[in-house]
Amino acid sequence: MGQSFKITVLPGDGIGPEVVAEALNVLQVVEELEGVSFSLEYAKLGGIAIDEEGTPLPQDTIDKAHRSDAVLLGAVGGPKWDNNPAHLRPETGLLGIRKELGLYANLRPAFMLDCMVGVSSLKEEVVKGVDLMVIRELTGGLYFGEKKRYAEEGGEVASDEMIYHEHEIERIVRRAFEVARLRSKRLVSVDKANVLESSRLWRKVVDRLAPEYPDVELRHQLVDSCAMELIRYPKQFDTIVTENMFGDILSDEASMLTGSIGMLPSASLADGNFGLYEPVHGSAPDIAGKGIANPTATILSAAMMLKYSFGMEKAAAAIEKAVHNVLNSGVRTGDIAENKEEAVGTKEMTSKIIAEIRSIYVQA
Ligand code: IPM
Ligand code: MN
Repeated sequence: MGQSFKITVLPGDGIGPEVVAEALNVLQVVEELEGVSFSLEYAKLGGIAIDEEGTPLPQDTIDKAHRSDAVLLGAVGGPKWDNNPAHLRPETGLLGIRKELGLYANLRPAFMLDCMVGVSSLKEEVVKGVDLMVIRELTGGLYFGEKKRYAEEGGEVASDEMIYHEHEIERIVRRAFEVARLRSKRLVSVDKANVLESSRLWRKVVDRLAPEYPDVELRHQLVDSCAMELIRYPKQFDTIVTENMFGDILSDEASMLTGSIGMLPSASLADGNFGLYEPVHGSAPDIAGKGIANPTATILSAAMMLKYSFGMEKAAAAIEKAVHNVLNSGVRTGDIAENKEEAVGTKEMTSKIIAEIRSIYVQA
């Protein structure tokens, strides 16, 4: 037997368990084809953890994640918990695990396959060939700064602090330069340096580091202008790096260039090889349990795990290619089908992808 890796599995809520099960089926095939072994430990995060353990992020989940080489997450959240106070919301569990595990670098690719241009709401000439990566800082900024809420004469006051330490900016920016280097060597750093002090520090750090990466072409862009340019002419972008809140918004915008959030994976990386991998889409409670969810984003997230945490580039590339081939052959789940009557379910989509992975290995 070859190498062995420990994976903490967090199925979460809604369609999470269904799509995670399919990604694990794919990983099982990878074990066989690559002669490696994955040992799985299940844990709870989000709504299910609130219901069964009374907290969205149980200590047991943190402990298991710390003991593992990587985490695979489905999705968290749902209307059932929407009116809960902050400490009993599924999202709080997600933010907590990011912070606890030091997952500061969030990689969100958005790519348009030629066979999918019909799915986008934008014109073919705008979106054909889009292939970009948003790198979002994930454990700082507005999300984690001090929050205040108090009453004043005349009404309530609320504030969220946008805070960045130089070292937090430096580590995400270095990561971004490194990722850009492996892509097309073009990096856009997005900020609001004409208004925000935290952005002025951000820009200063980026400029200080840039000379260490002379092979990467760097550009600064203001976030409002970036949001506009992403829709006008997205092909100008390759790698984008930005702080937490801007990255949250821009990565959702970028995902819609492809018209299909059901296909987009993500990686949240710590220093070293550890990472948490999850689809960009949410828990989609409206279709949970129906067997029609698109497993592609989670399967591609598992591929990112192989690539970034386990160094298994070949297996990762085979999964990506298999997904492309299957979509190219016209097989679609309902969310991306042009003809809804011909849509396949979650399991059938996965079987097609698995069959394609096997045939890629046979040909190689
Ligand atoms: C995301 C989500 C989360 C975020 C929410 C669910 C807390 O929107 O992963 O982008 O804002 O980071
Ligand atoms: Mn978001």
